[in-house]
Amino acid sequence: MSAVITDDKIPNNVDLSGDKRLQRALEAWQPKFIEWWKEMGPEGWMAKDIYLRTAVSVETDGWAHFDYVKMPDYRWGIFLEPKVEGRVHGFGDFAGQPVWDEIPGEFRNSLRRLVVTQGDTEPASVEQQRALGGTAPSLYDLRNLFQVNVEEGRHLWAMVYLLHTYFGRDGRDEAEELLQRRSGDADKPRILGAFNEPTSHWLSFFMFTMFTDRDGKYQLAALAESGFDPLARTCRFMLTEEAHHMFVGESGVQRVCKRAAELMKTGDVRAQGGVDLPTIQKYLNLWYTLSLDLFGGEVSSNAADAFASGLKGRYKEDRYAEHKLIGSTFAMDVLRDGKVVHEDVPMRTALNEVLRTEYIKDCQRGVDRWNKTLQLEGCDFQMKLPSHKFHRQIGMWSTLKFSPEGEMITSEEWAKRSGDWLPTEADEQFVKSLMTPVYEPGKMASWIAPPIKGLNGLPEKFEYVRID
Ligand SMILES: [Fe+2]
Ligand SMILES: [Fe+2]
Repeated sequence: MSAVITDDKIPNNVDLSGDKRLQRALEAWQPKFIEWWKEMGPEGWMAKDIYLRTAVSVETDGWAHFDYVKMPDYRWGIFLEPKVEGRVHGFGDFAGQPVWDEIPGEFRNSLRRLVVTQGDTEPASVEQQRALGGTAPSLYDLRNLFQVNVEEGRHLWAMVYLLHTYFGRDGRDEAEELLQRRSGDADKPRILGAFNEPTSHWLSFFMFTMFTDRDGKYQLAALAESGFDPLARTCRFMLTEEAHHMFVGESGVQRVCKRAAELMKTGDVRAQGGVDLPTIQKYLNLWYTLSLDLFGGEVSSNAADAFASGLKGRYKEDRYAEHKLIGSTFAMDVLRDGKVVHEDVPMRTALNEVLRTEYIKDCQRGVDRWNKTLQLEGCDFQMKLPSHKFHRQIGMWSTLKFSPEGEMITSEEWAKRSGDWLPTEADEQFVKSLMTPVYEPGKMASWIAPPIKGLNGLPEKFEYVRID
């Protein structure tokens, strides 16, 4: 295991050439991946030079190298954080025992499910975003989109490496299927709901990277605690890459808000080519709630099992004093006979909700920063996260209707008011009407403020994507 990544056909730091069988298997999967990338990756941009970062090491400092590259030539590879000698299970029934380098047979199926579910989200998001390059608000944003896309492709590699290495025949089959499902496809959809929703314009893209990629951060962080050591090390490095995706989302929405607040000073925001704040709020409501669903049911025996068996921990497990969670409880809202009650739930079965609660706090910090921006512009509108009960499609709240404030409402009221809370077809058409591409270096579309600084210290007018 080395920190430096080799220059092999498949760049890696796992000594792939030392395992010929695995190397051959992955080299056979590689052309299929490239085929998928060309078919389902960014539409119309395969031959262009894009200023991208590529991982060249897994050291915290200096792991990334920036240069122009054509996307199909991107160096997708397999990067794991170095092994920590003597690492032990940090939680669950095996807490304190040495971590596993192989998967015990009895946990094989549930672990495969976890890896496949995570893996499936990576190509799904590339598919959802494939047409966005045609309407990029600037070269800076265009490049950021492609950076996110190639790294999601890299994350697929990370999961496929685990499938090929540790799951035998089943794993190889799963790796094939990861390239066969398609986001939004009626017959072969992606596994999770939010990954089948279209990301039809840049406001949704920024909300997606803000909220849905952030779900990814929390899932990866929980898996980074895993007692199955190769999974933990894989996810740790993925988190390094993931941080940029959330930066794209958070700063993207911030710039759209800033622009709206600027335009409010001179008249109607929409009339001047901006997205008004109430419309931004509706997209926040939509993508935030779709992302809340990704954490799964509030009370879940699967979550309890994954924790008990040491496969999936809590966010930053070492912040907690107690790691077995036998006899402890979590106080949360639950539904009893059609009523909301606050109750103590056995901690292990509440772990989806525990992770979701951490996620919500993190989202709130981002929203606070947007509100700070609005305030600085002298605007008194404030963005708000809706209640976690609002607009849910998975879990106990999905059976009833709630307002963004979390009050239970009737279906009739929902039908009357949901258009005030979630984007309507008219909103969607309006936002899409703003999406005309801006490909001139340093220029921005009318609906978004420029970034505070260029990428990697580059000047404002840097040509992040060579258009001709
Ligand atoms: Fe990812
Ligand atoms: Fe991501």
